[in-house]
Order: sequence, then C-alpha cells, then structure tokens
Amino acid sequence: MSELKQRVVAAFESAFGVAPQTLVRAPGRVNLIGEHTDYNDGFVLPCAIDYETLVAASPRSDSRLRVVAADYGDGRDEFDLAQPITHRTDAPWPDYVRGVVARLLERGLKVQGADLAVAGNVPQGAGLSSSASLEVAVLQCLNQMNGLRLSATQIALLAQQAENDFVGCQCGIMDQLISARGRAGHALLIDCRSLEARPVTLPDDLAVMIVHSRVARGLVDSAYNERRQQCEAAARHYDVPALRDLGLAALQAGAAGLDPLTLQRARHVVTENQRTLDAADALAVGDLRRLGTLMAASHDSMRDDFQITVPAIDRLVEIAQRAIGEHGGARMTGGGFGGCVVALMPQARVAAVQASIAQHYRAPSGDVATVWVCHAREGASTVV
Ligand code: GLA
Repeated sequence: MSELKQRVVAAFESAFGVAPQTLVRAPGRVNLIGEHTDYNDGFVLPCAIDYETLVAASPRSDSRLRVVAADYGDGRDEFDLAQPITHRTDAPWPDYVRGVVARLLERGLKVQGADLAVAGNVPQGAGLSSSASLEVAVLQCLNQMNGLRLSATQIALLAQQAENDFVGCQCGIMDQLISARGRAGHALLIDCRSLEARPVTLPDDLAVMIVHSRVARGLVDSAYNERRQQCEAAARHYDVPALRDLGLAALQAGAAGLDPLTLQRARHVVTENQRTLDAADALAVGDLRRLGTLMAASHDSMRDDFQITVPAIDRLVEIAQRAIGEHGGARMTGGGFGGCVVALMPQARVAAVQASIAQHYRAPSGDVATVWVCHAREGASTVV
C-alpha cells in the first residue's frame, strides 16, 4: 500500500472507527504551455502528474457530511446536506469540499450523508492544482457512492463552478479538466471552448521536470481576477466573444483606441494560443528543439506582456534554459506570481540540469529550489 493510501485510510479509521468502503484519487497537474488561455476559450497543453489527492469514504444513513483532513492535523468539518451550505474560512480546505457539494445539490442531484477522509501529496501553493485535485477527488467519490453517473467533463465543470462561485477565484477549466480526464503517458491538447481534448504522446525518453522556485504565490486571486477582466475588456473592444477568436493580424489592425496595457494582455493570449497549438505538434513528432523555442517565447510573453512572473522565477528559467540548451525547454507554469517552472528534456540531461539549478539558484529567502521529475498519470479514478 502506498504511503498516501496508508495515511488516508489511517485518518479515516481513527476518525470514524471503521474501515472506508470507497477510495478514489485525483491528480494535480503541470501545464506544459498555454497559460491564461483557458478562460479566453483558448488552448492549453497540461498533463496530470503522479502527485494526487486521495479520498476515503463510507456512506451514512443520515444527511450529515463529516470530513477529516489528514494534512491539516486531522482537522474536521461537518455540515448537513439538508441545510443551506455556508462558508468556513477558518481553514484553507473546507470550502473546497463545501463548494463542490453545494454545486451538486444545486443541480438537484441526490447526495446522501457520508464520512470522508482526505490526504494528498500535491505540493500546496505551488501552482500544481492541489485544490482542483481535491475538488475533483471529492466529486468523483460522491459521484460513485451516489450513483450520479456524472461524466469526467461534468465533474470538471462542477469543480470549476465551485471554485468560481463558492471559493471566489475566477479560474478557467484547465486544472479541473486535466485532473478529471488526464491520460497516462500523454499531455492533453484541450480546446477550452469545445472541451475536446487530443492526447499527445510524451516521448518515452522525455523527462517532465517541475522546479519549485520557493517563491510563495502572493495576492494570487486578486491579480488573477484582474488579468481575466483585462482580457474580457480586450475581447469587448474587438467585439469578439473571446480572445480565442482573434489572430495576431486582427489584433494589430484593430488596436487603435485600446489602452497599451490591455493590448499587451491580449497579445499574450493571442500569441500563446498559437504557441500552444504549435507546441502540441512539436511534441507529437518529438521535436524538442522547436518545443524549447516555443516555451521560451511563452515565458517571455508571460514576463513582458502578461506580467505574471517574478524576478526569481525569471532567473530560474534562464538557468534551466541554459543547462538544457537546444534539447528541450523551460518556462514558468501555472497562474503565476511565484510557484513552479516546468522543464522538458531528455532523461539523460536531468542530472546536469538539476546540478546547475542547485549551483546557481537561490530564492530571495535563501532557499534552494525543489525538483521533481514527474510522470503523466491518468485522471481521477478508483483506487484498488
Ligand atoms: C490557474 C487557473 C487555470 C489557468 C491557469 C493559468 O491554474 O486555475 O484555470 O487559468 O491558472 O493558465
């Protein structure tokens, strides 16, 4: 039994005195390219990773939902499904559970009471979607226990709505969708308008490295929501439903009257959409050199046009890019303002890249970066 599975089962047994009946998992994710494009109806290229959230559960005969969080000192939450679901802001995790349950009930879906234990190993606050993996794991668990027959895409949409309406972050669909629908050994090129996803095989020899900068992500929600508003303002200026509908030529041709900052934000999204499509093609044919060029351009665009990087991350990306050379690429990944860098390279280069980062990088706090080499995993599933 994995360490995580042992931990979640032990937490369940010590809280509720019996063994759980159901065990489900949902992964975190790393986005290879396509940042802040999802809420503009654009393209993203993430893969689900082998860090995940586990939920152990058993049904109850009443309408109470009791939850114990193993990663928060066995902190507890308890509420009644027959009463309006309110917020609990005294701990970082209960609102994710309450939010998804509230969305299920709003849909008129029948959910019976349950006891749940939650444990995860997705690094938190790192931009690897620990919260999406929690939302999707809880939904998948309740889906199964209550025979709701929700598809993976429906689960992702409910999780996103919980985050938008209950938690208050206006995130797009990427994190929840890849956590629900990821494919082992593949990244998914997701069209965030149609929600179609094309699996792109990751070359056998490719290492997916995640490097945590040790810069905490601050003011994330407010800056994120502001970027989203700027993108929506740009779409209104161009009179298109979303920035997805704009090419670079149309962006430039219609720029008159748009303030320079909003134009910059729009330029990031428009160019990033094209880079994401190109990167999926490059990855599919194993062209790591081209992939590296696209990743570098993506990072520059996030730094200069979208302005969501921080100086320490820019340095970290440069160090990784130098060590990788023309054999792959590196860029900041996730919402921004701290967090992680994703670096792609042949396995044979991993040790050298790691050594270079250890030698040349320090966070402003003096901390060294943490490096994980990940594997692409399948989306939410039952644990056997
Ligand atoms: C966060 C959001 C996603 C996406 C990324 C940026 O992870 O949750 O929806 O917008 O930022 O690409």
